[in-house]
Amino acid sequence: MTDDEWVSYELTVDGKPHQVTARWDESLLTVLRERLGVRGPKLGCAHGRCGACTVTLALDGESALTCSCLLPAAAAAGADVSTVASLAAGDGALSDVQDAFLEAGAVQCGYCTAGMVQSATGLLERNPDPTRDDVVAALYGNLCRCTGYGRIVEAVLATAARRRNR
Ligand code: FES
Ligand code: FES
Repeated sequence: MTDDEWVSYELTVDGKPHQVTARWDESLLTVLRERLGVRGPKLGCAHGRCGACTVTLALDGESALTCSCLLPAAAAAGADVSTVASLAAGDGALSDVQDAFLEAGAVQCGYCTAGMVQSATGLLERNPDPTRDDVVAALYGNLCRCTGYGRIVEAVLATAARRRNR
């Protein structure tokens, strides 16, 4: 295929179905941001190193955190994509993870935050009682140039503690 060959496929993003027409090699991040106007996932490195573009991808009964900058969107045809926007409640209330980030001062410029929150949310779904090392490992692929990570880790641990005490 040449760069200017176009393909068409369906993608559900944050519960909303879309018919996408895009060049065959456009990344999922490009399709989300530039074609669908979904601005939660951010372009950082474009090489799978920073995690700013992290989304959750569900396809064929499997669900996984994914660097949307690396995945050709056409390869995700038919998938259900969840971005940070899906974490808030219908009335716009933030999720408990998002609240904890704000309370802990874990957000500065905010560029990494959507990806961090996606990874943290995914961790707490897999492991409701993580150790500090578990949190550090889960966030290994998410880079933050502002916070020094300490407050981010505290926010994730605080969320886990709150959920246990509910
Ligand atoms: S923009 Fe995708 S990992 Fe950095
Ligand atoms: S808050 Fe600025 S990059 Fe993380």
